[in-house]
Amino acid sequence: MGDISQNPKELMRLVTKNNSNKMCPRAPWHWHSTSAAAEQRADVKEKPQLNARKPKTGILMLNMGGPETLDDVHDFLLRLFTDKDLIPLPAQSKLAPFIAKRRTPKIQEQYHRIGGGSPIKMWTAKQGDGMVKLLDELSPETAPHKFYIGFRYVHPLTEEAVEEMERDGIERAVAFTQYPQYSCSTTGSSLNAIYRYYNGRRAAPKMKWSTIDRWPTHPLLIQCFADHIRQELDRFPSKKRDDVVILFSAHSLPMSVVNRGDPYPQEVGATVQRVMEMLNFSNPYRLVWQSKVGPMPWLGPSTDDTIKGLCERGNKNLLLVPIAFTSDHIETLHELDIEYAQILANECGVENIRRAESLNGNQLFIKALADLVDAHLKSAETSSKQLSLRCPLCVNPICGETKAFFAKQNL
Ligand code: FES
Repeated sequence: MGDISQNPKELMRLVTKNNSNKMCPRAPWHWHSTSAAAEQRADVKEKPQLNARKPKTGILMLNMGGPETLDDVHDFLLRLFTDKDLIPLPAQSKLAPFIAKRRTPKIQEQYHRIGGGSPIKMWTAKQGDGMVKLLDELSPETAPHKFYIGFRYVHPLTEEAVEEMERDGIERAVAFTQYPQYSCSTTGSSLNAIYRYYNGRRAAPKMKWSTIDRWPTHPLLIQCFADHIRQELDRFPSKKRDDVVILFSAHSLPMSVVNRGDPYPQEVGATVQRVMEMLNFSNPYRLVWQSKVGPMPWLGPSTDDTIKGLCERGNKNLLLVPIAFTSDHIETLHELDIEYAQILANECGVENIRRAESLNGNQLFIKALADLVDAHLKSAETSSKQLSLRCPLCVNPICGETKAFFAKQNL
């Protein structure tokens, strides 16, 4: 599926095959229902004997989310630019609406080109559904399990999901980041949102909370990435295969975030190292960084400069591997597949460029998610040790309060 520049219908075929009866014809990943919970409610009619029981363990799948329709783009951007944990801006309450309004048409155009919206809710729901089914078998003592989706910038918002979990009477709640590598801008922001929910209401949670805050080197995650890379390498002409440069591409960060001690670059590097070990270092590779916005310095080298630089130096067979998001989103479907694999590759005279498929509906990946939650529940830990440490140059007091919130949960 990787060479979208050659075969954009392949992506649609895969998505359609996996979700034939739930989707809007214009953008096949759109659900007609509005939340994972709604989909789970539909399951209740089919399997009353399984789902009639009140859920005991709730798994909150945390991610930034993406606009499902073009009409959702403005509010998505507004929430994103208003998030101080993600991008602290001067006079943020005034500047954020201005930037969101100015960027909306351009971003709408990008979503229009990938089918009218983000597939991230569809994939997260599919992963969550598979995960809880496995968990009910793996861990009957914590069953029934129910998944919830908590997005940071679109519905269902993290706060809405927490409210629903409280209403459902969940006893044991797991905040499960869907970013394998931890950054204070992504997972940290979502965890802060959970803390702020309770703090704003001056209410203690009725549920016992813990968090899976990072999983950059989980063996099944590594195996999924390695499998997808091998599949894509096999699609290069055999004479070129050994020369293909693998470009692991992750979302970049402003250097101001990196330099305050954010663990993300190191954790992304750890994932890359393990994947290459599993591939027996079959090809040359680099870790590169995409999606910079604004004039300030960001972590590099950038993915686009790397493609240009490699072409100039005669490396014209390239495999792009999204390594920091597990499901498709605008940065894979538009930035990698269209901006780089089509437009930039043509300009540079690339011979072959492909993109490894995102983990999306991969059954082994769903097994990885279930395994992570199962091991976490059995460990009775409230978080990783790493979460207890604030960035050495952190200036956000909420980070400390959030860490204390999880640390003091009495499991
Ligand atoms: S910014 Fe990293 S802990 Fe606050």
